[in-house]
Amino acid sequence: MTTSSGDAPAFDYGTFSFGSKEEVLEKAKEYWNPGKTQFWSDAGVPLVIDRREEYFLYDMSGKRLIDVHLNGGTYSLGHRNPEVVQAITLAMQHFDIGNHHFPALARTALAEALITTAPASLTKVIYGSGGGEAIDIALKTARHTTQKRKILSIVKAYHGHTGLAVGTGDDRFSKLFLSDRPDEFPHVPFNDLEAMEAELRGRDIAAVIMETIPATYGFPLPNPGYLEAVKKLCEQYDALYIADEVQTGLMRTGELWGITKHGIEPDILVTGKGISGGMYPIACVLVSERCAGWLTEDGFGHISTFGGAELGCIAGLKSLEICNRPETRSMVHYISDFIGTGLREIQATYPDWFTGIRQNGVVIGLEFSHPEGAKFVMKRLYENGVWAIFSTLDPSVLQFKPGLLLKPDLAEELMDRVAVSVGQAWNDVRGVARRSA
Ligand SMILES: Cc1ncc(COP(=O)(O)O)c(C=O)c1O
Repeated sequence: MTTSSGDAPAFDYGTFSFGSKEEVLEKAKEYWNPGKTQFWSDAGVPLVIDRREEYFLYDMSGKRLIDVHLNGGTYSLGHRNPEVVQAITLAMQHFDIGNHHFPALARTALAEALITTAPASLTKVIYGSGGGEAIDIALKTARHTTQKRKILSIVKAYHGHTGLAVGTGDDRFSKLFLSDRPDEFPHVPFNDLEAMEAELRGRDIAAVIMETIPATYGFPLPNPGYLEAVKKLCEQYDALYIADEVQTGLMRTGELWGITKHGIEPDILVTGKGISGGMYPIACVLVSERCAGWLTEDGFGHISTFGGAELGCIAGLKSLEICNRPETRSMVHYISDFIGTGLREIQATYPDWFTGIRQNGVVIGLEFSHPEGAKFVMKRLYENGVWAIFSTLDPSVLQFKPGLLLKPDLAEELMDRVAVSVGQAWNDVRGVARRSA
């Protein structure tokens, strides 16, 4: 079996030796991850992603899906964005990941590009190979800067699964590996300033870490003035403010960084996912001069062979440049208006079922009245050629994340498919309720 797209040579599927999709699923259970593989089969999404391009994924069966999961914005610029592919392909004739101990052209250039487009408080960049590692770097940096150990996050936060990051998130993931440390990682409810101040009052918190809009919790929007007040509390009680922009950065809110819409200059900002254009893993931590002390005290303080890999930096330079283009910004504003209007129309048809829309640019959460409503919608969307995922920490909410460069005709097709799927899922939910009555 071979497939090709454009002028590219066909991929040689002989690299693998699978006779069928069923065989891949069986072997994935046997050799890879039985829990995950079974979960998706049970959820009615037996997807084995094969070819991918633009905003399309193709299952091994050939079924085409419009991708509005985008792995949290990793594919904001589309799958295999041709400009990013070209930049890396050319770079591979000359570079590899590089040697992380030395200064490098690509690492320095991406750091400069990030700092010149970031909030003015940020002056230096530290690299990781993925979001979790970058969050760990941010937390280590906060601890070094303040010489305090505690990190405050919100209940149902999600900052990744690495050593320190996992402690800031939901018990489901930290307890599994005996990594819950409530003494070092207290959590307070989102949008609750009193609870936050109560924790900060002891002045023993190194940093508050906040997703600008908590993604895995289903994108609940911060109350007006909430993030601004959190930043003020941080200043009052000598804690740093870490903005996790892994899902909200890179123009998804219609601004390069969601946090700037709140007029906040964070002490530390973390970006990942989309910065690689989905082509080469990389993540970046932008820090203020005050927080950059350890880079001078011991520049080898954080070592990561793949952190700041040069091919990743080249992907990052191109992705950042595309995100910063005025036409990309206009497109995001157009698409978010178009999709917001379409969603409100669908919602008006099913007010008892499709109960809310959380939206900031193309960061969107759809609320349903059943506690697991988003799983029903996800299944119907899949059948109807759209891939969108439920929110892990609140499955009543569907994450809906259209691409920055989505073309109007595809956006229209997408909304037609969403309208049908939302209606079908409502029937499914009522059917289940009737059967169990
Ligand atoms: C807001 C946020 N921060 C951090 C991470 C961790 O990133 P990674 O999965 O690349 O480790 C994620 C991943 O989904 C995320 O959504």
